[in-house]
Amino acid sequence: LSTLEVDLSGIEPGSVMTVKWQGKPVFIWHRTNKYIKLANSVDLAALRDPQTDGERVKKPEWLVLVGVCTHLGCIPLPKAGEFDGFFCPCHGSHYDSSGRVRKGPAPLNLAVPPYEFLDENKLLIG
Ligand code: FES
Repeated sequence: LSTLEVDLSGIEPGSVMTVKWQGKPVFIWHRTNKYIKLANSVDLAALRDPQTDGERVKKPEWLVLVGVCTHLGCIPLPKAGEFDGFFCPCHGSHYDSSGRVRKGPAPLNLAVPPYEFLDENKLLIG
């Protein structure tokens, strides 16, 4: 299947759900205000792959990312690392709460897959 429908109603604020889409993990993080604020308080000039949080989400409370490290393709750990986002244990890349790379060998931010909201609690990935 090239698209995947996900019911968001069971994802508590603060938690991350991992689904599989086209053979890859996709992280769906129901972000709380704390993490939304952190993602928006970053100086873009300090970023290796500069993108605002607003360019990476459709709704601030939902962060949707392909869970594949942009270095050599390991699966990062959600809600981990030095920047309150994701940590890739393979070679130590750290991503922030918008999935932007902040430290380590990864060259790019975690990718955002194509997706849309079908309604309040329904996400269509792909
Ligand atoms: Fe993630 Fe190398 S694959 S840091």
